[in-house]
Amino acid sequence: MNRAIITSALPYSNGEIHIGHIASTYLPADVTTRFLKQRGVEAYYICASDDFGTPILIKSEQENKNPKEYVEYWRKCHVDDFKSLDIKFDFFDQTSSNENKKFVQYVFTKLYNLNHIYKSKIVQFYCNFDKKFLPDRYVVGECPYCKANDQYSDLCEQCGRIPKSIINPKCIICKKTPIKKETEHYFFKLNKFSSKLSTWLKNNTKLQADVKKYVQNWIKNGLIDWDVTRNITWGIPVPIDNLDQVFYGWFDNHLAYISSSIKFLNGKGLNGKKFWNSANIYHFIGKDIIYHHYLFLPAIRLGINEEYKLPDYIPTRGHLKLHNKKLSKSRNWYISIKQFLAEYPADYLRFYLILISQYSQTDLNFSWEEFITIINSELIGNLGNFINRVLKLTDSKYFKKVPSPEKLDEQDNDIINKIIKTKKNFDSTMDQNNLDRGLKCILKISGYLNKYFQHKEPWKKEANSDNCIFISLNAVANISIMLYPFLPTTSKRIWMQLGIDENIKMQYNEINIITPGHVIKTPQPLFAKIEQS
Ligand code: 2FM
Ligand code: ZN
Repeated sequence: MNRAIITSALPYSNGEIHIGHIASTYLPADVTTRFLKQRGVEAYYICASDDFGTPILIKSEQENKNPKEYVEYWRKCHVDDFKSLDIKFDFFDQTSSNENKKFVQYVFTKLYNLNHIYKSKIVQFYCNFDKKFLPDRYVVGECPYCKANDQYSDLCEQCGRIPKSIINPKCIICKKTPIKKETEHYFFKLNKFSSKLSTWLKNNTKLQADVKKYVQNWIKNGLIDWDVTRNITWGIPVPIDNLDQVFYGWFDNHLAYISSSIKFLNGKGLNGKKFWNSANIYHFIGKDIIYHHYLFLPAIRLGINEEYKLPDYIPTRGHLKLHNKKLSKSRNWYISIKQFLAEYPADYLRFYLILISQYSQTDLNFSWEEFITIINSELIGNLGNFINRVLKLTDSKYFKKVPSPEKLDEQDNDIINKIIKTKKNFDSTMDQNNLDRGLKCILKISGYLNKYFQHKEPWKKEANSDNCIFISLNAVANISIMLYPFLPTTSKRIWMQLGIDENIKMQYNEINIITPGHVIKTPQPLFAKIEQS
């Protein structure tokens, strides 16, 4: 398929993003988009800020800000962080956009008219003092399992469990004890879609097998209908009944994948809906939101009669740990983007995170020692070393001019075959979303080339040295093209030093890109070794 829409989990506009989010979601999506574009696919990377939901409202109230200003602030911070890491969206919208509001209300109304929504009474906490219903997050108390105090009624942050019934509940606004009161909410008939979801999962062979397996198990154990409305004011209003309710954040946010794409594509003069339905759809996520993406999201699309097609790929990755411990903002156990970039270039982080992150739900571990070792040995010792040696020798002994190859000897043919073979392998691993293995293919090629260069000793300027320089320079060009999706800034610097322009990134299938007589620029070291402190 020659079209693709790539999305990644929409970041909540209520706090800093950290390298865990980058590793599991934003970076793999960015690399994939760049790779697809390079291969001639009309691909767009679309994302948005996730603006609604009770936790955001509570945080903005705690900081005495109005929620709109509050989400704007965080949205801007996220946009800056993404930019500083070369995470390049074609469009970054927001779930609170008018287009999304309209679309969410349209989808709800359609589901309602098709009888996939019903109204039902529930009992909820109600604060007599504040005169309002309290969504789960507005009630704190003692966790019935670990006895930790001051935990949300729907999540104990101490032990990670979801309390069935919190002990000694308190309203977080006035700290008084709330009562239980009946209210009416709208429910989406998720259970009704069990068999359709199951068939979809079975038939879509592009979805990750390990994830599919346990989603199928959830379906077997029985899906529960889904309460999609909340009694708060911050959100998209429910368009019927005048209930003074808004949609649950997880009802509206994933619909922004569609509404933002359509807005962007229509704005480009394309037919957005047609594009969506004729493209490969990717939703990149971390494993904590599998339920939402493999069940809610497809069920809603099935519920509106697949007016917008279901995803083809939901690349799901594990969580990043820091020195084998779960990241936690409240315990200050995380690395922010700004902190990292104050010390190291973005490409160091991109390189390391891709190398350690597999296309699976396995958690990954960030270790500073390993980071330093990998950067020094692989990025600098292997890749950077080869590129710099070739360029420097072309500069000093060949006066920057690319020599003409003569009859190739066995070693020349051998290295060319190795490059071609590994490049093929690279293509297929990348097609299967195995970005880590793709990057390893590039390192394998530069490993071969380091040996070839060492063996051939082109600095002696003997017979056949010209072949070695010609082949090596073209290998550098090839490596820089393959490297582009992973390390865009480094690739551009290599092109500058080779004296070739940006369009080279599209010359994907050429082996010989640089012709004899071409003049390169003065080489500069690409990387600086990390000193162990
Ligand atoms: O878990 C989260 O961080 C959510 N903000 C992700 C939303 S993705 C959705 F839009 F599908
Ligand atoms: Zn209260």
